[in-house]
Amino acid sequence: MSTGQHAATGLEDVSFVHVGLPDLATSQIDTLTTIGGLTFGSPIFINAMTGGGGESTYEINRSLSIAAKETNIPVAVGSQMAALKDREERRTYEIVRKVNPDGLVFANLGSEATLQQAREAVDMLEANMLQIHLNVIQEIVMPEGDRDFRGAIERIAAIAESIGVPVVVKEVGFGMSKETAKKLFHAGVTAVDVGGFGGTNFSKIENLRRQKALRYFDQWGIPTAASLAEVHTAFQNQTVLASGAFKMLLM
Ligand SMILES: Cc1cc2nc3c(=O)[nH]c(=O)nc-3n(C[C@H](O)[C@H](O)[C@H](O)COP(=O)(O)O)c2cc1C
Repeated sequence: MSTGQHAATGLEDVSFVHVGLPDLATSQIDTLTTIGGLTFGSPIFINAMTGGGGESTYEINRSLSIAAKETNIPVAVGSQMAALKDREERRTYEIVRKVNPDGLVFANLGSEATLQQAREAVDMLEANMLQIHLNVIQEIVMPEGDRDFRGAIERIAAIAESIGVPVVVKEVGFGMSKETAKKLFHAGVTAVDVGGFGGTNFSKIENLRRQKALRYFDQWGIPTAASLAEVHTAFQNQTVLASGAFKMLLM
């Protein structure tokens, strides 16, 4: 695999701590998880990966939504910016709600989104939650990237205050520091998703399209395990979601 990597997640150093005295019956164990007042059947969810629009987005969103419905887990769509810019693309996202009318569906936009755009994205899917992704490194490496990152935290705060559904801010494979998480929790977000380093690598992906590769960023990021430990330790009373590189465990 040329655009991911192995053994850089930190997860290879993580294992369960054995508990010799659990003091419960296995029949008491359930996987119900609550985030921002929403109850999930499982702590596992399908994260965003279908931005862009087009027939492939439609087909993948449809398949993911069927899988989410059958397994009763939440599903996030990829960035809906394509559908906000071009109404024709809306159907490629709306299919997720059509297939799974009662399931938990997450809307998704980048941190450039305004409150108005966030409202449209949530309405488009009757979404239960909104994900806002941070993708600074991808934008820097991407040849046509938008490198003006000003005002993101103010926009996120405005959205979190008024959108009416829980807001999760996520990274996309570069991890999150406790300093960034602190700003986000102060801005009023419901949860952060550390989206750590070690799996999909958007620097490597975008470097494939550059004439002069910015290889420096291929190794940039906080490994998932380190990011999760740092942010969870700093904010034990807040909701911290773990994603990034988990598929590597299954390889
Ligand atoms: C093909 C692809 C498209 C993605 N598109 C989005 C997106 O539109 N919005 C978003 O928030 N994250 C997007 N992501 C990022 C993922 O949600 C995730 O944060 C990232 O891939 C790191 O996790 P991983 O190492 O398990 O792949 C995308 C990932 C992939 C592989």
